[in-house]
Amino acid sequence: MATLNNDQKLIKTIKSLHDKEKIKILFVCLGNICRSPAAEGVMKAIVDNAGDSARFEIDSAGTGNYHIGDLPDKRMRVHAQRRGYSLTHRCRQVRESDFDDFDLIVAIDASNRRNLQLLAPSVEAEHKIIMMANFADLATKYDHIPDPYYEGAEGFELVLDLLESACDNLYRLLRQN
Ligand code: 4NP
Repeated sequence: MATLNNDQKLIKTIKSLHDKEKIKILFVCLGNICRSPAAEGVMKAIVDNAGDSARFEIDSAGTGNYHIGDLPDKRMRVHAQRRGYSLTHRCRQVRESDFDDFDLIVAIDASNRRNLQLLAPSVEAEHKIIMMANFADLATKYDHIPDPYYEGAEGFELVLDLLESACDNLYRLLRQN
């Protein structure tokens, strides 16, 4: 039997969710104060604007534990607010039970994906892990969402550009029949 390549696996994972009453998505980065809470905010805005929020549960978490309980980084909040996203998430660390609680675990970069793979309690759980950059139109240049923590304003703007494109495409794939 032919084995599925990564793109086919991704499409199979997404298609398996089409008939679900509620689709639960967890975005995961390292600190859970820049990229993943921004992804959460952008995705929530997309489903809200589509009048589809009842069908989605969206959250974010970090593989690290440095900022638990904190609001997103001030710089991320300011850049997001300029685009109309109010980020109010409180940082939490990803946990094994997230693999039961969510349908998709979206890794923001390859390092997050490796850490998630180590945490996944089963092969089925591991299949829930997908890469955010797979959905971004700019993925030809960026195969991950670059960490803005030590960058200037352009780093935060780039993160938001990539996340807006990726979340838009992810939402469209999830709603396609
Ligand atoms: P994030 O960015 O993973 O996008 O939330 C970071 C935030 C904090 C740290 C690293 C990355 N940190 O080392 O504290």
